[in-house]
Amino acid sequence: MSNAPSQQPHPQHEPHASHPDDQARTTLVTLAYGAMATHTVAAALRLGVFDRIGDGRATADELADRCAARPGELARLLRALTGLGLLTEPEPGRFALTPAGAQARSDAPGSLHAVLQLFSDPMMLRAWERLDDSVRTGEPAFDTVHGTDFFGYLAERPALSERFNAAMSQGSAHTAELLPAAYPFDRFRTVADIGGGDGTLLAGILRAHPGLRGILFDRPEGLAQAGPRLARDGLADRCALVTGDFFATAPEGADAYLLKSVIHDWNDERCARILGHIRRVVPDDGRLLILEPVLPERTGPGDDAISYLSDLNMLVNVGGRERTRDDFARLCEAAGFAVRSVTALPRPNRFSVIEAEPV
Ligand SMILES: C[S@@+](CC[C@H](N)C(=O)[O-])C[C@H]1O[C@@H](n2cnc3c(N)ncnc32)[C@H](O)[C@@H]1O
Repeated sequence: MSNAPSQQPHPQHEPHASHPDDQARTTLVTLAYGAMATHTVAAALRLGVFDRIGDGRATADELADRCAARPGELARLLRALTGLGLLTEPEPGRFALTPAGAQARSDAPGSLHAVLQLFSDPMMLRAWERLDDSVRTGEPAFDTVHGTDFFGYLAERPALSERFNAAMSQGSAHTAELLPAAYPFDRFRTVADIGGGDGTLLAGILRAHPGLRGILFDRPEGLAQAGPRLARDGLADRCALVTGDFFATAPEGADAYLLKSVIHDWNDERCARILGHIRRVVPDDGRLLILEPVLPERTGPGDDAISYLSDLNMLVNVGGRERTRDDFARLCEAAGFAVRSVTALPRPNRFSVIEAEPV
């Protein structure tokens, strides 16, 4: 490892530490270490570091037994997590969670524990190792690596599918809090969430609008955790669970059809099928509501990389893509809908509500 790039400026360059070359070098070195950061967090999750530190402070010696790890090596991991901004060392050798580290706890309100687990799971990372293949072919590397498509892979593995559903739920919880105030759902009678997973988003809408009913539509493995999830909020009798394939059908009986993080999973041809089934059942005064990040038409210096990385994640793992406003308008138009409004949810949320009506 003696050839590892160092972020330390060479002594003779010290007086010019803000030289543009230094910034460029720091950018590249940070990227060179990027995958190691992901694996460091993944190891900490597997060892239970965040949950075991909890609200308190702990030394590596105190944590070693609880994490079944060697104190010396655990201390090295804790130092690295501190460098990544997830822990602090308020007194020598004693570590505490930062606000970001606290959200990596499995039991924290607003936890992203399951999201971090999913994104560092070899299932997804192995496909990423073949990103260049996907860029060459336009096909999801996932299918070549695993011999099946993403959702087929989950269907065969109930425990992994439950973790996926938990990650989607954690990823949607923030949107579920913001959405009811950002869009006037009170004009509807029944909202159908297509590919709605465990119902976290729909539950947020139904809680905020007691007069509304819900239909949660997904594959059997998508709905596996939905019953208890809705019952926990006392919503079981206001929401029907409907098992089905959105490439074959859409449930009748709603006047709003919601699709969150579904359209970005698929190419245009597959999206046309999903939207086509919804178009056949949506009433004339009904609405299609697509919740996705909207890419700018052109990249700009203020963009964060997350939306573009998510776009590549869709390419390698599921064969989908993130889209611009024009892309959404074209997709909707081809399926018999016209986009009426695009409303960005408040930052740091990255989602927009794309509202379309049947034409
Ligand atoms: C990326 S997840 C989004 C879940 C949820 N809408 C959210 O944003 O949290 C995609 C969802 O589509 C569901 N799905 C995938 N293929 C499907 C199909 N052919 N028919 C119905 N649902 C499907 C998955 O089970 C999963 O719940």
